[in-house]
Amino acid sequence: MYQRDQDKQKSLLAKAAIEYLEKDMVLGLGTGSTIDVFISELSKVESLFSSLKIVATSKASAKKARDNRMNVVDPDKYLELDICIDGADEVDRNLSMIKGGGGALLWEKIVAYRAGKRIYLADESKQVTQLGAFPLPVEIIDYGHEWSAAAIGPLFKSVRLRKGATGNIFKTDSNNVIYDCLIKNEEKTADLSSKLSAVPGVVTSGLFDQFIDILLTCRNGAVKEISSKENVFW
Ligand code: 5RP
Repeated sequence: MYQRDQDKQKSLLAKAAIEYLEKDMVLGLGTGSTIDVFISELSKVESLFSSLKIVATSKASAKKARDNRMNVVDPDKYLELDICIDGADEVDRNLSMIKGGGGALLWEKIVAYRAGKRIYLADESKQVTQLGAFPLPVEIIDYGHEWSAAAIGPLFKSVRLRKGATGNIFKTDSNNVIYDCLIKNEEKTADLSSKLSAVPGVVTSGLFDQFIDILLTCRNGAVKEISSKENVFW
């Protein structure tokens, strides 16, 4: 998929997502390049964004929202969110997702659990028949992470500690590390979550199963709204 087409789709998806917002809502704000486009589009609608209270899923999204004069609030002051809007790395035909390419998976999961309606934006490049071409991010606490990584190793084809652009170990906003893990073809992702959570030190993974209330995606350059598996077209 050409970068230009992908950028255009992100912009269409962002505009479609804004249609779900109402004044005074508490909005869970995702993370990533699609969400950056969403913030830019939302910043053009002052009558709407000025009334929103925004719980951000990363320091990066909080900064971008603040830079655009939006009201970013303390997550502990608003325990229930009206809606959350986020991106995805892969979405399969069962509407399960891999997320966390941007490293915000933990806060994204916490925010999504608290949201009344969860909307995900996925351009066509994110549609897959089976999860796993994108390595699954697994967030692990810093303390003793090499032991935890060795313990999850047999579950995957490979596990690789995420590094930043300068070669330093990547740290999440919770100061944890991430291992990017290639899923075995025969592995059932539903079983993976419980196997991972049995390993001390594992905080969460980028498997998001049963999270999607509405998926906004594209077909032939137009936005399609999907709210159940029966409407999946890829
Ligand atoms: C960040 C995420 C993002 O939603 C996901 O990586 C998609 O990002 P992008 O919109 O840049 O493709 O999970 O942790």
